[in-house]
Amino acid sequence: MNLQFLGHNAWLLSVDEYRILVDPFLTGNPRAAISADDVQADCILVTHGHGDHLGDTVALSKRTKATVVAMVKTASWLEKNGVKSCQGLNYGGSVTLDGNVVKMVPAWHTSTLPDGTNGGLPCGFVVRTRNGKNVYFAGDTCLFGDMQLLRRYPIDLACLPIGGHYTMDPEDALLAVKFLQPRVVIPCHYDTWPVIAQDAEAWCKRVEAETDTKCVVLPPGKCILTDD
Ligand code: NI
Ligand code: MN
Repeated sequence: MNLQFLGHNAWLLSVDEYRILVDPFLTGNPRAAISADDVQADCILVTHGHGDHLGDTVALSKRTKATVVAMVKTASWLEKNGVKSCQGLNYGGSVTLDGNVVKMVPAWHTSTLPDGTNGGLPCGFVVRTRNGKNVYFAGDTCLFGDMQLLRRYPIDLACLPIGGHYTMDPEDALLAVKFLQPRVVIPCHYDTWPVIAQDAEAWCKRVEAETDTKCVVLPPGKCILTDD
C-alpha cells in the first residue's frame, strides 16, 4: 500500500491496483502536486462540501467513473450534479470497495456545497485496507474527545490537519495524536494559504518528543509506503 500526498487535504491511497482518492482539490490548489487531468481513481472519498475538499470531484468522477463516497446529503447533491455512482453514508456506516472497508466517522466542522446548499454534516474516514492496515483521514475538524474511540482499530496511519483557523491548530493536533495513538501521523491542511501557515517540521519534533508516534512531513507529491 502506498499513500501519496497531493497537497492540502488531497490524498491518493493505492492498495494493490485499487486507487482511493480523497478530497481531490487540485484545480485552484496552489500546492497541488498533480493536475486534475492526470489523476486516476477507482473511488473518491469526500469529507465535506467545501471547495478545498470537494474540489474536482464531479469532473473526476465523470472522467474516471470512480464511485464517490460522501455524507448522504452531499452524495445526493453530487448525483444531481451528474455523478453516476455514489455511496451516501452516515456516521458509523461503511462500504466495502475492492476489499477495502471505508467507514465514515464524525468530524466537527461545517459543510456548505459550492452553490450554497447545505451538504449535511462533515466527516472523516477510516479506511481498513484489504491488507489489514487502518488509515484515518480526519478531514477538517477541531479536536474532539471521541477521537480516542478510533484507537481501537488501531490506526496505522493518521492524516491530521494542523493549519488552525479552520481546523485543529498544532497544539490541538498534538493532543489528537495522543488520543489516536497512530503508528504514523502525517500533517496536512497547512501552508496552502498564509492564513494556515504552520511549521510542520517543528510540530513533528514535538509529536516525536511527546508521543510514541512517528511523524512524517510529506511535501506535495511525495509518498509513504506503509507495508513496513
Ligand atoms: Ni472545510
Ligand atoms: Mn478545508
